[in-house]
Order: sequence, then C-alpha cells, then structure tokens
Amino acid sequence: MTSPILCIVGARPNYMKVAPLMRAFVQAGMPAHIVHTGQHYDADMNDRFFQALAMPAPIANLQVGSGTHAVQTAEVMKRFEPVVDEHKPACVLVVGDVNSTLACALVAAKKGVKVAHVEAGLRSGDRSMPEELNRIVTDQLSDFLFTTEPDAKDNLLREGIAQSAIHFAGNVMIDTLMMMKPHAIPAAQTLAQIGFISPENARYGLVTLHRPATVDDPALFADMLRALAKVSESLPLVFAVHPRTRANIDKFNLESIVAGKAIHFIPPQGYLELLGLQAQATLVLTDSGGIQEETTALGVPCLTLRDNTERPITISQGTNTLAGRNPDHIVALANDRLTKPFDRSKRPEGWDGSAAPRIAKTLKDKLY
Ligand code: UD1
Repeated sequence: MTSPILCIVGARPNYMKVAPLMRAFVQAGMPAHIVHTGQHYDADMNDRFFQALAMPAPIANLQVGSGTHAVQTAEVMKRFEPVVDEHKPACVLVVGDVNSTLACALVAAKKGVKVAHVEAGLRSGDRSMPEELNRIVTDQLSDFLFTTEPDAKDNLLREGIAQSAIHFAGNVMIDTLMMMKPHAIPAAQTLAQIGFISPENARYGLVTLHRPATVDDPALFADMLRALAKVSESLPLVFAVHPRTRANIDKFNLESIVAGKAIHFIPPQGYLELLGLQAQATLVLTDSGGIQEETTALGVPCLTLRDNTERPITISQGTNTLAGRNPDHIVALANDRLTKPFDRSKRPEGWDGSAAPRIAKTLKDKLY
C-alpha cells in the first residue's frame, strides 16, 4: 500500500472538508498527503484554518495566488503535474467546486490517475457561476463520486455518470462541525473583542457575501447593502467581509449605504470564530454554499441571498430559505424569521459526523 492519496486544498472552503478525510485515512492505515495549490494565501483565509483544524502540513504548496480564472486554473495545472509525477498517487482526491478542484482533477485524469470527488453532483443550474462549471467538469472526470444529498445522485445520473461510480457518503464538512463545535470560540467573546455589542445583549445577525454574482455588480451589490441596512434596524448585524467584498465596497463607493447603521464590519474570521458566531446568531444572511449547510446542521435560520442553490436539501430538510435578490423580499423574509416560530429540528441523512470514515472505507476497498 505505497501509492498515496493526494488530497487537494486550495481555497478557504476546502480545509474543513479535507481535515476529517486526512484523519480517516490515517485511522484506516491509508497513505495520504495534502497538496496546497495556494489559491488562497492570506493568513485570514489560510494559515488560521490549518491551525484550528489541526491539519498536517502540505507536502507541497504550489503558490499559485490570485489571477483570472484561466490563469489560476492553468497555473495550478502546470505546477501540479510534477507533483503527480513525483508521488505517483493511487488517487487524487478533490473537494467542492473551486478552481483548484477542477485544475487538479484535470491533471490527474489526463495522466490516468484515479480521481475522487467529494461533494459531487451538486448543481445550481446556473452556468454563469464559475463553481457550476467546475462542478460539472470535475464530476465528468471523476472515478469515485461521493455525494452529500440524494438530489446529487439524480443530477449525476442525468449527466450520464455510471451508477456504480456514485457513493452516498454524507457531508464531511459536518464531520468537522460536529468535532469542533465544543471548541468553537463563543460568539460573546468575538463580539466583545470587536466592541460590537455587550455579551449580555448578544442578539445579532451574521452576514457573509463574497460571490462575484453578488458583489461584482455595483447596482445589485448596492441593493443587497440597502436590504442589510433595513434589516439592521430590527437586528444588529455582524458582517465578516471577504477581501473581494471589502475591495468592491470601496471601489463602488458604497460605504454611505451602511454608514451609521448597526452593521459592524469585521475581517474574515477563523473557523472556530465563525462557528461560534453562526451557532449563536439569531439569523444568518449569506451567499455561501458551506454556510447554508453549517446553519442547517446548527439549526440556525439562514437566508440565502441568491436566486438558486446547489444545496436544495438545506431548504427541504434544513433551516435555509432562498431569499433571492429583491431587497424588499429579503427584508420581509428577515422580519418573518425574527417574528414567527421556526422549525429547527430537521437534519439531512448522513450529516452525522461519520462521512469521512465512510469515504475512507470505500476508497480502501477500491484502491488497495
Ligand atoms: C473562491 C472560490 C469560491 C469560494 C471562495 C471562498 C473559485 C472559482 N471560487 O472564490 O467558490 O466560495 O473561494 O472564499 O475557485 N484574495 C485575497 N487573499 C486571499 C485570496 C484571495 O486577498 O488569500 C482576493 C484577491 O484579490 C483575489 C480575490 O480575493 O483576486 C478572489 O480570490 P479567488 O481565489 O480568485 O476567488 P474567491 O472569490 O475567493
């Protein structure tokens, strides 16, 4: 059993998915290493997560950094190929839908190395999202497709993937959430540190927005900020700001919309800080995929400020509501959540803390 599994991480949402897989591979006696593409590189977006999740250091960091989609994807491919040549992996494992996911899957597939895709089959139906293209192509290249929810299998079968390649695994990100929840930094501590509100009065909404579709169009982003400004009149908001979002607020001169409102901007948070903030939030407003899942697992109501979601189970069996992009509608839904009773009890099947061991078992049987 000498050829290793190379697990790819590149961007912030990858770390919490690969951490439990690395632990499960070690427990199953399987050789596995992390390769970091360097798509995200700031300490806030990267190092903090490795520390909090106690992840082993990568055997290689490709240091690709930022760029256009073509440049970033091409750089990952160029720099990952020699790593594959050197380590001769039994399998390259990719997670999620970022550019690094697609780039490494493509290198491996072209070299005849097996590809495992964790979080396969999610579809928003919106091909203007870069992630949707990454998902579709990565799934087509993969030999082992591990799904988190039943819809994903239907999507894959519709796209011609063989049934035998699809394995329902559950959600590895929820493995991490369940393991780390007791260690989450209490929201009161983070809020006190940023001087937002007193721990005794810690009723707040948590906001994250980072997708190009939300923050790259000045008029639409202004609408989203107007909606948040209105919501903040009933519920103070804490906005953890992605670098792209921060830059666009300045670039489009949108500061005046939120100035003087009960909206407190804070830098991107570490995993344990954001987990604590989510767990105690009255309401979460986001365009993130992962946060739709985490709020579902935590039983915290979530409004997704998008017209679609690739994670429909968070709506049918979770706490998520698709709020769209009409500011009045968003404000009305937020008021609803704040005033009406809300069922927090449902949890999707397989979101149980044991998804990574299930994946390790399948790969051990198939590869070694
Ligand atoms: C990427 C993923 C997205 C994921 C998100 C989480 C793709 C196509 N998108 O989007 O699916 O939800 O990560 O954050 O892969 N930047 C920094 N520091 C960093 C990294 C980025 O300042 O450490 C800035 C740079 O200006 C960069 C911009 O953020 O140009 C965008 O980064 P990029 O990795 O291209 O995409 P994300 O928007 O982060």
